[in-house]
Amino acid sequence: MGDKGSRVLITGALGQIGSELTPRLRELFGKENVVATDIRQPAVDQDGPFETLDVLNEGDMRRLIKEHDIDTVYHLAAVLSATGEQKPDLAWNINIEGLMNVLNAAKDMKLRVFHPSSIAAFGPETPRVLTPQETVMKPRTMYGITKVVGELLGSYYFEKHGVDVRGARLPGIISNVAPPGGGTTDYAVEIFYEAIKHQRYTCFLREDTVLPMMYMPDCLKAFVALMDAPLSSLKHHGDYNLAALSFNPRELAAEIKRHIPEFEIEYKPDYRQAIADSWPKSIDDLASREQWRWNPDYDLPAMVEDMIKVLGARHKKGGL
Ligand code: SER
Repeated sequence: MGDKGSRVLITGALGQIGSELTPRLRELFGKENVVATDIRQPAVDQDGPFETLDVLNEGDMRRLIKEHDIDTVYHLAAVLSATGEQKPDLAWNINIEGLMNVLNAAKDMKLRVFHPSSIAAFGPETPRVLTPQETVMKPRTMYGITKVVGELLGSYYFEKHGVDVRGARLPGIISNVAPPGGGTTDYAVEIFYEAIKHQRYTCFLREDTVLPMMYMPDCLKAFVALMDAPLSSLKHHGDYNLAALSFNPRELAAEIKRHIPEFEIEYKPDYRQAIADSWPKSIDDLASREQWRWNPDYDLPAMVEDMIKVLGARHKKGGL
């Protein structure tokens, strides 16, 4: 990753993405150069420096950045879409006040920043198929609102203060290390655990709900590639469209059934259906492909095969 990005701090490091991004960055930069932080205490021993950090505590954040001589922050601490509808004030505080603390530290202490946006930044007026890079951004969830504001703040801090802020509009991320929490796309992870443990799953979205998704190895690949790209080749900042897979629960269940024939699914849509219905079905990510050579590796069959292999092996050892 060039000469920068060698001393990294990750917020929300115990979350779904942080749990896998942390070891990946430690492989790239060396264990001691990646400081994992989270508001929670880790349940297992960490393979490198760990600090407790509430992203709303600006003083603590700056102290850790100084103490560890950090030059790049991966800011992952956030409240996701479903929790955000239940606790909108909390979502605003964590997602916006927390981000402001990171951006102001980055301005004053000359840091690079990675901050993910989301497909939740779009809304019902946005074209839902192959959603363009530049389009209507009128989300209906508090989470989506914080993501649009986050994108705008990223561009503002780049233009006004020269802060190198990068990020992509992540689709639902499917993974098998730490579970997602409080998202609308979480069904696509839960389904695997239930299929392997109980051969049954009750889905909280309708069977025909198509959403953009991505397997974690591709997500990590995107983070590394975007941060590695020369700044001069980037025309956007924290708002790159990113695509890998698009499917609905029926298609995912059918693919799982090819590996676990006894698997049965039923559908009981809840309040998360309205959130999913306001989001795109598929994303046009040409700008990412052109400007930082984005190219995903996993299609639906390859993702399902790998998820079942990894989780099936863990289940056999009694660890699921
Ligand atoms: N996975 C997120 C959610 O469902 C989308 O960014 O909230």
